[in-house]
Amino acid sequence: MAFFQSKKWIAVYMVSLILSLWGCQSPQQTQDVAIIPQPLSMEKGSGTFSFSKETTIAVGNEEQRIIAENFASLFTLPAGFTPQVKTGQEGDIVFLTDNTMKSDAYELTVLPERITIKAADVKGFFYALQNLRLMLPPTIEGKEKTTDTWSIPSLTIKDAPRFNYRGFMLDVSRFFLPKEDLIRMIDCMAMLKINRLHLHLTDDNGWRLEIKKYPKLTEVGAWKVDRQNIPFPDRRNPKKGEPATIGGFYTQEDMKEIIRYAAERQVEIIPEIDVPAHSNAALASYPEFACPVVKDFIGVLPGLGAKNAEIIFCAGNEGTFDFLQNVLDEVMALFPSRYINLGGDEARKTNWKKCPLCQSRIHKEHLENEEELQGYFMARLSDYVRSKGKEVMGWDELTNSKLPEESIILGWQGYGNAALKAAAQGHRFIMTPARVAYLIRYQGPQWFEPMTYFGNNTLKGLFDYEPVQKDWKPEYEPLLMGVQACMWTEFCNTPEDVFYLTFPRLGALAEIAWVSKGTKNWNSFLKGLDNYNAHLACKGIRYAHSMFNIQHTITTETTGKLKVKLECERPDVEIRYTTDGTEPTSTSTLYEKELIIEKDTDIKAATFSQNKQMGELLVLPIHWNKATSKPFIHADAGMDILVNGLRGSLKYTDFEWYTGQLSKPISFTIDLQKPESMKQFTVGCITNYGMGVHKPRSLKVEVSNDNVTFTEIGKLTFTDKEIFKEGNFIENLSVETDEITGQFVKFTLESAGNCPEDHVRPEQPSKIYIDEVIIE
Ligand code: ACM
Ligand code: ZN
Repeated sequence: MAFFQSKKWIAVYMVSLILSLWGCQSPQQTQDVAIIPQPLSMEKGSGTFSFSKETTIAVGNEEQRIIAENFASLFTLPAGFTPQVKTGQEGDIVFLTDNTMKSDAYELTVLPERITIKAADVKGFFYALQNLRLMLPPTIEGKEKTTDTWSIPSLTIKDAPRFNYRGFMLDVSRFFLPKEDLIRMIDCMAMLKINRLHLHLTDDNGWRLEIKKYPKLTEVGAWKVDRQNIPFPDRRNPKKGEPATIGGFYTQEDMKEIIRYAAERQVEIIPEIDVPAHSNAALASYPEFACPVVKDFIGVLPGLGAKNAEIIFCAGNEGTFDFLQNVLDEVMALFPSRYINLGGDEARKTNWKKCPLCQSRIHKEHLENEEELQGYFMARLSDYVRSKGKEVMGWDELTNSKLPEESIILGWQGYGNAALKAAAQGHRFIMTPARVAYLIRYQGPQWFEPMTYFGNNTLKGLFDYEPVQKDWKPEYEPLLMGVQACMWTEFCNTPEDVFYLTFPRLGALAEIAWVSKGTKNWNSFLKGLDNYNAHLACKGIRYAHSMFNIQHTITTETTGKLKVKLECERPDVEIRYTTDGTEPTSTSTLYEKELIIEKDTDIKAATFSQNKQMGELLVLPIHWNKATSKPFIHADAGMDILVNGLRGSLKYTDFEWYTGQLSKPISFTIDLQKPESMKQFTVGCITNYGMGVHKPRSLKVEVSNDNVTFTEIGKLTFTDKEIFKEGNFIENLSVETDEITGQFVKFTLESAGNCPEDHVRPEQPSKIYIDEVIIE
């Protein structure tokens, strides 16, 4: 990349950026060029081009006129003028069609007197305009009149994307995102040159698209009972007759408006009708298409659904296929996309195994088993879709049986590699690994994040992702259409929740989708991201600042000493901390290397840049007890955190919680290094009901002087009622005794076994998570 910039430009740029980081603010007079995704090549010139009420944009056709007018209309409120769009080749900004260029590619030349854009098609012109937009003051996104200077530095950009498919999946089933917010989301995607919006329109938790032939899909299927004040996994199923008040749907007219808005921004909307599973909303509306063995009330699920999630479309009933084909007819007529996604994920076959209709289908079609029945089901619908001239996409579970002909597979499991089974059969595929690209996961240190699922998928983790792996066969890469981030909305109750989880990580997805292999640069990406975020702020979009937060790790250095590591994924901030109880400021001690501590210490830390605090205040109250920093006899990996003097948060995945293997009791022995007098033995333990995380059945404490002969000091045993409590809370399980002396203390925690029938996770193994051992 040829990109020249002076130090002065960088300095001025950084100041203006920091000012604009948290709200919509006018930058200082000068701005530098900071665009994501990073263009292929960018060469700076001298001088600037200024927009004014005299500025004209000359376009070549109607398609170009639309994108130019949308761009010009950005100026109307904040600048108080609107550049004029006209047809021809005479203007201050000129579109020149060059048919020798590739679709999506563009050349943008900004001179003080003229801007020229060359591209083969409207896509290239649109992407060049997004660059102009990102080079303008972020207040261009706002509705307030400002006194900003609407100028752009001279430069030449030559650009083209790595992948044709640059995708974002949005789950509007778990949380219905109103039309206006969906439209805002599309504009934010388009600014990043993301060109596919995969809309997950149907699931157990809501059917979101009007289907004229089947009005109950939205009269019934779009509404669930109100359990909003309870975390998604903890929510109980609806009872028959319980009012269903939460939800919404897009009418076909709404969807036409959304599709048109997206098309003008070069975003193709790919509808997903997820079958045969994730279908409780459809089956709540038309229960006749569930297997007849299902006798339970079928409702739109507010949560995971427990056994009701096993209720799926009956594959033996001809009516199911008529129904779904009729639905698909309306979907295919509505969406101009050549792709239809049929889902196919996570279909549990419990009812198919018991259903006489499904079993008779297996017999008649000479299928081996229920897995092959899903293959039949998907192939039949896929053939129908293909007969209408469309192509089929689906999740990687489609590889579990014969793949529908020509289907395109989205790899989400096993780091996305589940899609390689499809690639090996010559199918095209898209990588969307859950472990990197699922935006539902935590985006930063969990102590600061709103409650969600599983582990961390940080901005940096997504940025670092390279879809093409070294061990791939050479024939796979040409079949890779691109990459996608998926925003599942189980934990969203407001549009702001959706935007918070999506941004800024969608910027990292755009970067890996656009930038040529091996040319990403984290530092320049962050500059472009800060600029993009400033535009989001001016659009009134909530985005996360998690990249400025500190992740801590506290481990045993040597007996009696703990090592405290503080990390932030932003290399351009300083971590500053205190140990005297005061809040850190920009002049507090600079964190340069791991801290070694040997007594009770309250560490407070935050990140700073240009004298401004950038992230949340991290407070680490580290408290010593007799077990702290002592060694284990045969420690399992990760046990260290049990003696690191720090308690965990209410998130059992925050890296302060230890869990063992499901099949075995958790058992460990701590060597206190010398005989100690003791009378209380405590283990910190967390309950997260919805995730099946519970107390142990029992906790036994034994003490020894020689690590050979142990004496049982006490044992706590809990009943099911005590163990399987609802909620998310931390308990101290303490065994107390008269003062005794010993050097080795052994703890044994036995599993509570499977969650009971009336649990939201019936018959699933309960898990134990513990954060600290406290011996006093
Ligand atoms: C999926 O995450 N079930 C595709
Ligand atoms: Zn059936």
